[in-house]
Amino acid sequence: MAPGALAQVLRGIQNLKDDNLLVGYDTSDDACVYKISDELALVQTVDFFPPMVDDPYLFGQIAAANALSDVYAMGGRPTHAMNLLCFPDCLDLEIAGQILAGGADKVREAGCTIAGGHSISDKEPKYGLCVSGFVDPRKMLTNSAVQPGDVLIITKPIGTGILSTAAKPGFLSDEEMQMMIDTMRQLNRYAGEAAENMDVHACTDITGFGLAGHLCEMAEGSKTTIVLDSQKVPILPGVLNWAQMGMIPAGAYRNRSYFGGNRVQVADSVSVALSDAMFDPQTSGGLLFSLSPDQAEALMERLAQAGVNAAIIGHAEVFDGTSVHIV
Ligand code: CO
Ligand code: CO
Ligand code: CO
Repeated sequence: MAPGALAQVLRGIQNLKDDNLLVGYDTSDDACVYKISDELALVQTVDFFPPMVDDPYLFGQIAAANALSDVYAMGGRPTHAMNLLCFPDCLDLEIAGQILAGGADKVREAGCTIAGGHSISDKEPKYGLCVSGFVDPRKMLTNSAVQPGDVLIITKPIGTGILSTAAKPGFLSDEEMQMMIDTMRQLNRYAGEAAENMDVHACTDITGFGLAGHLCEMAEGSKTTIVLDSQKVPILPGVLNWAQMGMIPAGAYRNRSYFGGNRVQVADSVSVALSDAMFDPQTSGGLLFSLSPDQAEALMERLAQAGVNAAIIGHAEVFDGTSVHIV
């Protein structure tokens, strides 16, 4: 659902207060965190969606990598997951098997186990996971503790929404298609583990609200201003070209209007195609870390060692009335 619509629906909901619920839905974080003891907390998240690629096995891999990501975004390690599958009666069961096999392979790569699931018959296939994991609550990473002076690191290139839009009518080259798929099915495990035991102040992963939207939530939650250097953001090959041709997903426009005004301001010097990419909703996007400059340097080294293609893309300042400046 669009971010504004979701906020409106949630506004009227009455909820029981529980002090063990360390992170709930009110701060728009990635997953909930429920305290079990002073040293241990349960991290849980759920995510599922319809296919954005034709190959059912690859779709399963992407949906699972995406669902697992929210546990890493909280600094946690996933331990077990439940399948969620919606599947049409008229489709070959072999296809359902391929989706689940793709999901299971990613779950195994995460060192996580499938513990069960739920399936229903539906007009359109959809797949995802409910994932559980654990974190030491003292080391948990929220999206709302950015400090002025921090720098921001992203761990995957962006542009999967624009590329998926151009892929529907068959416009993508084989290379563009392969890069899009490989990015979406890459687990955030390696980036998350590289950041373990480092002094990371805040973390989230980039999904439906786009890089600008997720940065805005971080900045607002932390009452800071984030300056995003759009020239430094890693972007998948072909994205700016297809954005210029008008292959913009509806979600990018929704994000731009929801996070517009004083929340996210785009400098005149940023091209329309580049700013479209900043608002592009991502499927299974990278992690976004906020930490001090010296810690950032150390983390960049660890990320490179782990084979993660990361980049420093901005910094945080004392709040100046605007949450995010895109320059
Ligand atoms: Co998330
Ligand atoms: Co999610
Ligand atoms: Co987080």
